[in-house]
Amino acid sequence: MYYPEELIEEVRAKNDIVEVISGYLKVQKKGSNHWACCPFHNEKTPSFSVSGNKQMFHCFGCGISGNVYTFVMKYENYSFQEAVKMLADRAGVTLPEEEFSQEARNRESRRARLLEVSKEAAKFFYFQLRSPRGRIGYEYLSRRELSDETMHKFGLGYAGKSGAELVRYLRSKGFEDEVIKEAGLATNSERYGLVSQFWNRVMYPIQDINHRVIGFGGRVMGEGEPKYLNSPETPVFDKRRNLYGLNFARTARSGNIILCEGYMDVIAMHQAGFTQAVASLGTAFTSEQANLLRRYTDSVLLAYDSDGAGVKAALRCIGILREAGLTAKVINMRPYKDPDEFMKALGKEAFEERISQAENSFFFEIRVLESRFEMDDPESKTKFHREIARKLCEFSEDVERDNYLQAVAEKYFIGIENLRKLVISYAAQTGLARPMERPKSGVQQKHHPEENAKKSQRLLITWVTDEPALYGKIKKYITPEDFTEELYRKVAERLFRELEQGTYNPAGIISMFEEEEEQREAAELFHTNLPELTTGQERQKAFHDIVLAVKKNSYEYYTAKLGTDVNALTQVIAGKKALEELARTHISLD
Ligand code: CTP
Ligand code: MN
Repeated sequence: MYYPEELIEEVRAKNDIVEVISGYLKVQKKGSNHWACCPFHNEKTPSFSVSGNKQMFHCFGCGISGNVYTFVMKYENYSFQEAVKMLADRAGVTLPEEEFSQEARNRESRRARLLEVSKEAAKFFYFQLRSPRGRIGYEYLSRRELSDETMHKFGLGYAGKSGAELVRYLRSKGFEDEVIKEAGLATNSERYGLVSQFWNRVMYPIQDINHRVIGFGGRVMGEGEPKYLNSPETPVFDKRRNLYGLNFARTARSGNIILCEGYMDVIAMHQAGFTQAVASLGTAFTSEQANLLRRYTDSVLLAYDSDGAGVKAALRCIGILREAGLTAKVINMRPYKDPDEFMKALGKEAFEERISQAENSFFFEIRVLESRFEMDDPESKTKFHREIARKLCEFSEDVERDNYLQAVAEKYFIGIENLRKLVISYAAQTGLARPMERPKSGVQQKHHPEENAKKSQRLLITWVTDEPALYGKIKKYITPEDFTEELYRKVAERLFRELEQGTYNPAGIISMFEEEEEQREAAELFHTNLPELTTGQERQKAFHDIVLAVKKNSYEYYTAKLGTDVNALTQVIAGKKALEELARTHISLD
């Protein structure tokens, strides 16, 4: 599904980046830019800038940048094609259907088929539960105090004792065995042929945010192994990117999302009126799911089981949520095991109270930590305090760190100044108290020669896009071939061509690339931090140095390639000449 370049550019141009981002974030205009708190890392003061002129965004905190496509891809977890579709829709641009490749069309129709068969299976299970043969399932769910209304809302069903019925039913509806198998609904058995994967279980259809059935969880009635059987991953069932109950929770508007461990917990919570409850899908909570939640809330309440495994899972979750920039609090369910049991025993009001008492995730972590040390042993206690200091170093913002420092010192009777000293010495040793490190963000510069060469190339591109008049002065010396990094060369080719014609459009250049990572790298080229220089002389020298460094690197690069690259000799000769000339001339910036 390749769209022509002009169309991609048209869609981009019709979606003003400031408007699009304002739909997601609270932005404020300051000077010629708009500012917001970066949605891609955890911060409380805005360092995320959106430029209407450049039609690009850039975060000075984590270094991420891009155009409107990059933003939508990153924020919504979309592929490039999905982002184009969404923005085309938004701007009222019709995309040609013919542009879809045969392969993409096949994939799409297979996905559609899988959704149809899942929906049909859900219907089958649903009617089974309400038929005389499904009585045992219905009674089981009733014993667990689910109302008819709740069973209906979640589309609960029952898979009967015969493994053949579902298959017969689906075949009668025109589904091929291949589709039934691919949806994870049935498997081949030597003796009986194709048989249902699920039997004698109550069935929980798993829906995506658009209420489409994408998979199933089946629970044995009473004891039995495995307790839950889940559909395997399929082209429509991505366990990392969906959450049980989110189709309802996304419109709950309660100001938070409650994350539980199990399907039954979610259902019990919804029944009690907490329609903001969701759960992961029989697998551990993922960063993709955290990003998904961030579209709907910035505050997540954890309602994990109160046993050891639950606490461990909650700790893991806290890290993931924090990394995604979400605040987490932990709900204490004791003496009950999980929200389902809690709700049955104490009910809605008691749970409301537990919500209001939910513990800040940092204090939860410290409390769990505390249980591993012996407070009446000075040595163990000291270790505990050191651990607190280490955890405090994880806060990148001074104010936040200090607030937590004071609070934790007070709570655990530690002298504030002593704890502060401990934090400082810890930070000095390990360098932890710095903004969160984001790999691939380009903020941290490694000092390899190759990295230096790339840096000069980036600086040159940023400088020339900031002051396009400079292009006329360097084109004598620098050509796109001097950009030895392939992606940089592609950008330079297009940029120089555009500058030659008198117009240039960095945001358009970025959408030459389809991968989010490439877009980010391309965008970085327009946002490299230029040296802060005051005098004209300093600036002139810096610019000259950059041009020289780029040329020198290119000269060395092609020299090394002599004999293997047909292009190399021309480059080397031209390079030598340019270098000699550059040594004599000064490029004036005025
Ligand atoms: N789970 C699973 N496979 C298992 C056990 C658990 O996929 N063999 C998943 C299910 O999604 C389940 C969740 O982990 O909902 C939590 O497990 P657990 O606490 O054991 O189940 P409950 O939700 O409490 O289920 P129930 O109340 O029905 O016993
Ligand atoms: Mn339970």
